[in-house]
Amino acid sequence: MRYELSEQHLDRAEASIPLGSQTFSKSRTQYPVGVSPLYLKKSKGPYSWDLDGNKYIDLVSSLAAVTIGYGDKKISRAVKRQFKSGVTLSLPTRLEAEVAEMLIEMIPSAEKVRFGKNGSDATSAAIRLARAYTGRDHIAMCGYHGWQDWSIASTTRNKGIPKSVIDLTHAFNYNNLSSLEMIFSSFPKDIAAVIMEPMNITYPNPGFLESVKELAHKYGALLIFDETITGFRFNNGGAQKLFNVIPDLSTFGKGLANGFPISAIVGSDEVMKEMSEVFFSGTFGGELLSLTAARVNLSYHSNNKVCESLYSSGENLNTKLNQLISDKALDAVLKLSGHPTWTFLNWFEGGRYAENEIKTYFLQEAFSAGLLVLNTHNLTLAHSNKVIDRILDKYDAVLHRIANAIEAETLHLDLKVAPLTPLFRVR
Ligand SMILES: Cc1ncc(COP(=O)(O)O)c(C=O)c1O
Repeated sequence: MRYELSEQHLDRAEASIPLGSQTFSKSRTQYPVGVSPLYLKKSKGPYSWDLDGNKYIDLVSSLAAVTIGYGDKKISRAVKRQFKSGVTLSLPTRLEAEVAEMLIEMIPSAEKVRFGKNGSDATSAAIRLARAYTGRDHIAMCGYHGWQDWSIASTTRNKGIPKSVIDLTHAFNYNNLSSLEMIFSSFPKDIAAVIMEPMNITYPNPGFLESVKELAHKYGALLIFDETITGFRFNNGGAQKLFNVIPDLSTFGKGLANGFPISAIVGSDEVMKEMSEVFFSGTFGGELLSLTAARVNLSYHSNNKVCESLYSSGENLNTKLNQLISDKALDAVLKLSGHPTWTFLNWFEGGRYAENEIKTYFLQEAFSAGLLVLNTHNLTLAHSNKVIDRILDKYDAVLHRIANAIEAETLHLDLKVAPLTPLFRVR
């Protein structure tokens, strides 16, 4: 059995850990048990190996946290050196200001910086800061911003969150200004901030981000860009630099340190000075291995065209993959969208089969072909042209099987597990 050890480990893990994982998107809720590698043993470059020893080209890239590639030598060397002088000390070190200065140099909206560990730390700090700065309680939000109460309140997965908190968060739709206007007209004096991913599944319509900024400011709210994924992936200065729309505050996370746990909230002097009074504090905020990894990673970004390389690899993959999709007559079933460095796979119904049935079949076949992929392609520098050619070979085989299963109406027979049911939508 291909996933025998993974499945055995799932039983063991679930006896001590609910869902058997610390991260929802790495759990069996996303990976259908029976046809998925549930646990990994190691990752290197663009590759990962599961507990059973199966090798994958990894397009998940640790949920987009890795941008250079797993186990990058220059980062590992610097982290090992730092390890000898300590991990978390009793007072702050110089490294905090050194990395903060690098962010200020690179990100247009950054005049002051604070660090956290997860993206959720940074977005939640931004929300508390915006509430303190404006003296208001309500939030307008679009996209995913982490597990904290204020954020997940607006989704269907809001168990355990007080109604009084749920009532303060209002979701609007991307590229739909009137959905945001409606929130402002219902709460004209109550919105502290508009928080959004500057881009996810689709590009912003011309003028959309500018209009959001204008609207937020017209009503006295702050604009926060959550660049947890777009930062150091779309552009060294984030999507704000790419689209030339500068928010009041922005948050960074995944791309900051090639997989090391560190996040940052950055913003103007004017707003960030309030941070001295707002309580945002953690024992591990100045942890040195992640700050070291961030320093090496940011300096590599500054001196090399990392984002440009990710972009051209993504374009190469998407152009050739779109051709394969067309060749197999699957254009109506699978549509690619988003930025070439963070491309979304959008599945639709085909023949007699529903979207989630086709998607589950895709996962089964992709994993079996040695491709670790979920809903997006999260490219890294380690995805060289040669690796991309291998990805395309695997897609060729997988898409062929999908097209056949739809055409011959054998998908239910070929699918070895029950289809995944969509749990909640955040984008
Ligand atoms: C846009 C965005 N914001 C915030 C977060 C939360 O980050 P973390 O999971 O590190 O708390 C995520 C995580 O996927 C994200 O994609």
